[in-house]
Amino acid sequence: MNSVKPAVRLALLGCGTVGSEVVRLLHDQAEDLTARIGAPLEIVGIAVRRPGRQRGDLPVDPGLFTTDALGLVKRDDVDVVVEVVGGIEPARTWLVEALRGGKSVITANKALLAEDGATLHDAASDGGADLYYEAAVAGAIPLLRPLRESLHGDNVTRVTGIVNGTTNFILSSMDATGAGFSEALEEATELGYAEADPTADVEGFDAAAKAAILASLAFHTRVTAADVFREGMTAVTAGDVASAKEMGCTIKLLCIAARGPDADGNESISVRVHPAMIPRSHPLASVGEAFNAVFVEGEAAGQLMFYGQGAGGAPTASAVLGDLVAVARNRVSGGRGAGESAYADLRVRSIGETPTRYHISLDVADRPGVLAAVAQAFADHGVSISTVRQEGRGDDAELVIVTHRAADAALSATVSGLRKMPMVHAVTSVMRVEAEGE
Ligand SMILES: NC(=O)c1ccc[n+]([C@@H]2O[C@H](COP(=O)([O-])OP(=O)(O)OC[C@H]3O[C@@H](n4cnc5c(N)ncnc54)[C@H](OP(=O)(O)O)[C@@H]3O)[C@@H](O)[C@H]2O)c1
Repeated sequence: MNSVKPAVRLALLGCGTVGSEVVRLLHDQAEDLTARIGAPLEIVGIAVRRPGRQRGDLPVDPGLFTTDALGLVKRDDVDVVVEVVGGIEPARTWLVEALRGGKSVITANKALLAEDGATLHDAASDGGADLYYEAAVAGAIPLLRPLRESLHGDNVTRVTGIVNGTTNFILSSMDATGAGFSEALEEATELGYAEADPTADVEGFDAAAKAAILASLAFHTRVTAADVFREGMTAVTAGDVASAKEMGCTIKLLCIAARGPDADGNESISVRVHPAMIPRSHPLASVGEAFNAVFVEGEAAGQLMFYGQGAGGAPTASAVLGDLVAVARNRVSGGRGAGESAYADLRVRSIGETPTRYHISLDVADRPGVLAAVAQAFADHGVSISTVRQEGRGDDAELVIVTHRAADAALSATVSGLRKMPMVHAVTSVMRVEAEGE
């Protein structure tokens, strides 16, 4: 007969959208969790900002609430700290205190991990404690554990993802209805997919934090949010979406982390977040509404796709509970899970060095010699053209050009050159293009 060990005692920091679902799942699944871990899980305290706040029918003793998160973390009767508050400070202070004291930590705090994950990993190593954060990227989707465990025998070459549900909802809606950005954002806000201040989502900060976390795990290298090239999607127009459709493409806000040799032949990585046209045949093109999906390519594994709900209280709490079972099992068995792997320490390339492809639309004068002059502007920067299409005649003539891959700096310099040419009335759209397996 299995003997049940003493309870694994939890300090829960935060009891909002995610934290309240963690409490609910711990209550509703208590028996199964005990059987899976070999010991019961017991919440010994919950830190919140407003302890007197009404929390509906949350199945928890009101006496557990406190505003003193640091005091809770320091308690001797706490084994595991679950942080679902967010932000850099005071969360970093709490988690460093916990980890250095040998307490396992589970956090959903992508902002902190992307800004200063190194401090947390160092504290975990110093304290011999587990640091798990599956919920920090792509909500319910099991993605970080596969990267940090299942794929550790392989070499990951590229991770391409839709990791922000708000922007995917907006872009899917623009694609389906032909609406402009503002109209689609308004709809997303009304339906609860966008926050009152959508900056972190639409400007790509949220996706950039997740890109840093994914790149760190995929390439065994410490990558911070500051290393990630970030361009939001507020400038994507209904015209861009229509242009993409004409090419058999759709526009997605992508996070792309890739590994490969740089111009000097040294292995390096690039990490970026920006809107991009992708062919409708690409596995990420059909990811609609607020869903997330991440496409991982490994040398031996080939192509893998992870898909599901990237946010929301219950889906995110599912990821937290998965981590909780893992760290509680480790405590019961007296072991520790996989720690940080940052041995490769690869250089992170600038966006200028990163090979990309551009789709460029130009309003041009429709007269002899214009096409040759435009083609020369590309050649001047060593950029080769894949396709050219002319639409309209006379003053309405539009040239739509798709390039082959070239260093992003060369493409960007080409666009600057085009803007200065007298026969180019306007550069109406510039968008990067990503194809499968590039
Ligand atoms: N929501 C999602 O779908 C989602 C998905 C993935 C990851 N995450 C991450 O999960 C974390 C929590 O997100 P959330 O949506 O659950 O946030 P939330 O609903 O705003 O909840 C935040 C919680 O933290 C508490 N809190 C705030 N400041 C505090 C302080 N100084 N001391 C103690 N408690 C404090 C709040 O207390 P009161 O209840 O008293 O206000 C509240 O319970 C964030 O890191 C977020 O990025 C969220």
